[in-house]
Amino acid sequence: MTTEATVRSPALDVERLRADFPILQRRVAGRQLVYLDSAATTQKPAPVLRAVDAYYATSNANVHRGVHALASEATDLYERARQRVARFIDAPAEGIVFLRNTTEALNLVASSYARELLTSGDRVVLSVMEHHSNLVPWQLAAERAGLQLAYLDIDDSGRLDLAGLDELLAPPTKLLSLVHMSNVLGTVNDIKSIAARAHAAGVLVAVDAAQSVPHSTVSLRDLDVDFLAFSGHKMCGPMGAGVLWARPELLERMPPFLGGGSMISRVTLERTTWNTVPHKFEAGTPDVAGAVGLHAACDYIDSIGRSAIREHERGLTRHLLDVLDEVGDVTVYGPRDADAQGGVVSFNVGDVHPHDVGTILDRSAIAVRAGHHCAQPLMRRLGVAATVRASVYLYNTHSEIDSLGAALGDVKRIFKVG
Ligand SMILES: Cc1ncc(COP(=O)(O)O)c(C=O)c1O
Repeated sequence: MTTEATVRSPALDVERLRADFPILQRRVAGRQLVYLDSAATTQKPAPVLRAVDAYYATSNANVHRGVHALASEATDLYERARQRVARFIDAPAEGIVFLRNTTEALNLVASSYARELLTSGDRVVLSVMEHHSNLVPWQLAAERAGLQLAYLDIDDSGRLDLAGLDELLAPPTKLLSLVHMSNVLGTVNDIKSIAARAHAAGVLVAVDAAQSVPHSTVSLRDLDVDFLAFSGHKMCGPMGAGVLWARPELLERMPPFLGGGSMISRVTLERTTWNTVPHKFEAGTPDVAGAVGLHAACDYIDSIGRSAIREHERGLTRHLLDVLDEVGDVTVYGPRDADAQGGVVSFNVGDVHPHDVGTILDRSAIAVRAGHHCAQPLMRRLGVAATVRASVYLYNTHSEIDSLGAALGDVKRIFKVG
């Protein structure tokens, strides 16, 4: 992700792009919607909506099972989506497992790899900036397999504190699982160099890329990690289309996650043998329409250009940080540096409860998130119960950020801050 910083791209024609997103024409309480919650889920452009609709209207059938025309068409669409997603992250397609979301992908790694192939006393290293979906699955695995968990801390600017990394990578550590970009702080972690250090110590690397893949060029071959998880719904795709990429040789060694149809080769009453990788990990009827929609989302994003998206978001983030400064009495959590963070900014206004801030903003049709953002240990580390989070994407404008600033002025007046 950091390599993007040096690439200059043409500015986005945001007004033209906005016309692709029907929901952005919506009014909320009589006012034009300002959607600043894309870290939670992004809105969907017409080409993605059309692809899902067309799939159901013309090709719907169950995959991998039928001999009729629709079944082979649906199978072809599903497998082409796998190839397309692999190309999107510059990875071999046989490592792509379609799942529901990042959470399910990380659970697969923690259950199938950590719980089954690691042994009691082995250590898994995480960080305090992880989303619950990169914490809880490891806690479950640790409890069942007797694994130890250790955590990298952050510094005062919300960046990973890597001073103790080599010590944490020493035996008995077997696996490091880290977020690429924090959904709270916006911090972008230098996964490539961390992964190189981990591999030099014989430690495997898993990456929660839920917030990085949608916003910048992420190349598996460049990062050189062992597992990478992300969610289609955070990158213009449908909900229910999630991805795990894993080194195929690891998938070969890992036991299945769920059992049932499609993931088998031969079943007798006594025992079962598994389908080939990655199908071994896709039990039951998959979300074919979701995969088709994700294919369209990859095409849509690449038709704009990921460098251009990153550049646009960098400008928005810079403006957002400036506007928060101008509002005054705002505490920002994270690097406060648009080159070191993605388009996510968490903050609090005086001592106003974030839910109150979110509610006042909603009156102006401004959608932000308020709460712990599924990162309670990070909230504890920051010494707060919750924050307000504004997050941007390719369709946001500088004037929307100005509207946020004006509405935060209302918050200050209402709660008599400053
Ligand atoms: C960094 C990060 N990891 C994981 C997740 C979980 O994603 P999902 O709910 O799609 O599984 C999120 C969602 O907000 C996230 O921001």
